[in-house]
Amino acid sequence: MPGINRTEAFYCSDSPSLLWELTICESLANGDSGYARALNQPAPYGELLGRFLRQHTSLPAAPERIVEVGGGYGSLMAGLLTVLAPRQVTMVDISAFLLARQRQRLGEDGNIAYVCADIFAYLEDLDEPVDLLIANEIIADLPTITGLTREQLAPLLPRAREFPPLEPLAADPGAEQLLAEAARLVATYDLEIDDQPEPFNLNVGGLQLVEKLAAREIKRVFISEHGADTELPYPFSLLLKNYQRWDKNPKRIQLKDHDEYTIRFDHLAAVASRCGYTVDSCHMMEMLDVRFDDEINYLLTTEKPTDEAQEILLEFLEHVAEYQVMVLSRD
Ligand SMILES: C[S@@+](CC[C@H](N)C(=O)[O-])C[C@H]1O[C@@H](n2cnc3c(N)ncnc32)[C@H](O)[C@@H]1O
Repeated sequence: MPGINRTEAFYCSDSPSLLWELTICESLANGDSGYARALNQPAPYGELLGRFLRQHTSLPAAPERIVEVGGGYGSLMAGLLTVLAPRQVTMVDISAFLLARQRQRLGEDGNIAYVCADIFAYLEDLDEPVDLLIANEIIADLPTITGLTREQLAPLLPRAREFPPLEPLAADPGAEQLLAEAARLVATYDLEIDDQPEPFNLNVGGLQLVEKLAAREIKRVFISEHGADTELPYPFSLLLKNYQRWDKNPKRIQLKDHDEYTIRFDHLAAVASRCGYTVDSCHMMEMLDVRFDDEINYLLTTEKPTDEAQEILLEFLEHVAEYQVMVLSRD
């Protein structure tokens, strides 16, 4: 029978640590770290993201309002604010502990509001337009339905478009509710499920999030996460073959005191485009402009670092190979 993976209890505990997961954002919190050596133009992650969004979207240099959900230690926003000058920033996080870290990092500037809330509760009350909402390595933390089969879903699909949506914050949905919600999402957005092995998993929280974002006045959304259907750019596709994802099934990632699931980005894209967003995706390596030269070629071909600096470089390349980014926009 289907089950559900949740992480709220971990993030709402006294001091959830992110060090175990070493997010890409934290690896590149400083532009001069050993990890940043992998980039053609080393810089802090938030700065790179700001430049990427300016180049690839119509985001103005001085937007009215930016919201970051799940800002961790605040490093992304610190970097972003070196290249963008928003009039208002809102940091939303379910963890009071991490929100306090963000406040420490970003300070008490009157333009920055700190909101301790679940993203779904925050969106419920949001009535102002937002130029950019950032969800960097958070949607793998949102609920994933596990253990689904096509046989269970098949009888529900013909009527499933009319099913009422499951409340994202519903405390403890039973197996029947989970099946009904999975069927509603699959039927409403024509999600491809025949290409997955069984039993399979569905990123229900990520899909519901896109639906809820589309129902608000949010012009652009940036999402990055571990992909379940990530395709590496050439020539990394040849050299990091083990990191190509083919089966598309959201995969469990075991972390300290909680599990996350990789994200099937083509499902998110299907919901977003049906809800009126233009969808652009690329691999994280492309967004960060990871360099490819003799040193990297040697490292990826031999997997034999000659010193500690190369060990760090190889670790970063293997890590970043798993990430996809997606930008949703509409006028
Ligand atoms: C894996 S960390 C990523 C932190 C940071 N964005 C980074 O890339 O380093 C996930 C973040 O999302 C927050 N978070 C998890 N679930 C959330 C939810 N339902 N609503 C709001 N924030 C959430 C966590 O407290 C944490 O700050």
